Amino acid sequence: MRKIEHIDIVVTKDVDHPDHCEKYFDSIVLIHQALPMISLDEVDLSAKFLNHEISAPVMITGMTGGHPEVYTLNEKLARIAEALRIPIGLGSMRPLLIKRGDQAVAETYKVVRRTAPDVPVIGNIGAVNLPGLNIREIVDLVNELELDALAVHLNPAQESVQLEGDTGFKFEIVDYIADLVKTLSVPVIVKEVGNGLSMEIVGVFYSRGVRYFDVAGACGTNWVTVEKYRLSPNHVKRQVADALASWGIPTPVAVVEARYVARDAVIIASGGVWDGLRAAKCLSLGADMVGLAKPVLKTLVLEGFESALRFLESYIQTLKTVMFLTSSRTPRELRRKPVVILSPLLDFLKQRGIDVYEYVLSR
Ligand SMILES: Cc1cc2nc3c(=O)[nH]c(=O)nc-3n(C[C@H](O)[C@H](O)[C@H](O)COP(=O)(O)O)c2cc1C
Repeated sequence: MRKIEHIDIVVTKDVDHPDHCEKYFDSIVLIHQALPMISLDEVDLSAKFLNHEISAPVMITGMTGGHPEVYTLNEKLARIAEALRIPIGLGSMRPLLIKRGDQAVAETYKVVRRTAPDVPVIGNIGAVNLPGLNIREIVDLVNELELDALAVHLNPAQESVQLEGDTGFKFEIVDYIADLVKTLSVPVIVKEVGNGLSMEIVGVFYSRGVRYFDVAGACGTNWVTVEKYRLSPNHVKRQVADALASWGIPTPVAVVEARYVARDAVIIASGGVWDGLRAAKCLSLGADMVGLAKPVLKTLVLEGFESALRFLESYIQTLKTVMFLTSSRTPRELRRKPVVILSPLLDFLKQRGIDVYEYVLSR
């Protein structure tokens, strides 16, 4: 089954962006304040998100579900989310739609809501699969799984190198998602999977009513590389995958672009946002939340539940410490604190038509 193969590859192979976009994250400098005027324990990361009180603007983005073997993984991820009071995403619900009525498959998703009753649980479906689906089926699924939002993923780079990939990313998908926004009782989150959302695409969906975006930029897990490992050594698409190992929009760029064209939307920064300092930088640039996927799963699979929990606890503690050192009591205050944007991020944003100085002042 594809999901099992994906998990195995993600855990055992190097599937990351070649340099994790170091130069773009290094371009963001938060200013150290030698007298923060607050104490560390005054830093308050709590927030309201999707009608739940959460302890930090940090989420585990969608990964697994659909095969009985991943039941335990999802149950453990949900236990982590509930223990830390942070949101959690489900992996694509396509298997559930294909195998309607298969209780073992359904349970791999339902276990998350059951185990994490107090945090937002976000469903997931591929945009390219939408036109073949009856919107009523999706509404029923959202109700049945008691979801707080539905993420729709756009993954053209992954599909283009996937053996059985579907590259029918036609405009009708925009209409379908606009219908979903109108029909569902919970928000729709448009997300990428690690190649980034551009301002053009955020703009299109924003104009059709979408108010939640997970930019999933190209600084972490690269799904083109993941798919490469599923191809035979001399398959032509392997060369395509090698050429595209760093394809996509760096996460910091995607955060600014999304905020630039969707001023009042909820922006989730993900894609290689793998430590608390990177998280603070993304929140400073204008993200409302940060998300991460692979490091949580990999730590869980290789080192176990306690290690994965500790990984996220230190992540959140690092974020808190950076906020303390920038004299920011809350993420909202962090956004008002000085940030310096150096090149190459500065050059990139300028060439995309963004007045960076004006942007930083109006975050
Ligand atoms: C094992 C695994 C499975 C994933 N499955 C899905 C999925 O079903 N749907 C989806 O939208 N994203 C999926 N993703 C993508 C993540 O949600 C995320 O956007 C991406 O991995 C970038 O985040 P990262 O760099 O922190 O890993 C998956 C990621 C991993 C690691």
